Amino acid sequence: MNKIKIIGVGPGDPELVTVKAVRVLREADVVYVPESDAGGRSVAEKIISPYVSKEKIRLSYFPMTNDEEELDRRYVALAEEVTDIMLSGKKVAYVTLGDGMLYSTALYLSERLKRKGVCHEFIPGIPSYVACANLIQIPLAEKRECFAIAGVPENTEGICGFVDRFNTVAFMKISKRLPVLLEYVKKYKPKTAMLVCRGTLDGEKIVDLTQTEGVEPDAGYLAIAFIKKGD
Ligand SMILES: C[S@@+](CC[C@H](N)C(=O)[O-])C[C@H]1O[C@@H](n2cnc3c(N)ncnc32)[C@H](O)[C@@H]1O
Repeated sequence: MNKIKIIGVGPGDPELVTVKAVRVLREADVVYVPESDAGGRSVAEKIISPYVSKEKIRLSYFPMTNDEEELDRRYVALAEEVTDIMLSGKKVAYVTLGDGMLYSTALYLSERLKRKGVCHEFIPGIPSYVACANLIQIPLAEKRECFAIAGVPENTEGICGFVDRFNTVAFMKISKRLPVLLEYVKKYKPKTAMLVCRGTLDGEKIVDLTQTEGVEPDAGYLAIAFIKKGD
């Protein structure tokens, strides 16, 4: 049965795209790549470029907005578009950075497809926090430890709420909230506070946040911080 394929393409390095994802991308007739004003498009497009010819790619623009109605309109329209292509007998795929189950626009599309009763399948990808933890060799959990993934809270108390409860916390979607993380590090002095920017991509940067001298206040869109209070 022809199903829409939602493919996680990993954190950036094309060699971190799974074998299954490559097969499905090669089999697809049309590949949708989300384009956002934060530069997400060029990243996803570049990751898949060794595997997909340009003619198969369709860019779908999504503004970075919290306007729920506007987003709903756009995702409903996209769900209709991909469904029509699928129903015409073509194989259609939608790609997303990392894995589709984690902070992904693919979830919005999936929601609209579910509403329409349209069959679709997710192909897992390597999530960015896993790739970045490997880059800096920071174990996420050992033995009976636990870890958390979170967006950056708006204040240092919010950060304590995670770091005090979990052995390791990976903070994603940092952007302009890097100063909150820096303030936390300065005030509470955790054992480990490492920032990975553009992990596995051109311009990759690793910063030890416990040495805050000269750290720029905006980490950029593609950045993750790993914080461990203790050893
Ligand atoms: C919209 S979420 C997408 C997450 C993605 N679905 C995943 O599984 O990693 C975007 C956030 O993922 C993180 N991210 C994605 N790729 C990254 C990379 N190559 N290096 C560092 N962080 C990355 C950043 O925290 C960024 O703000």
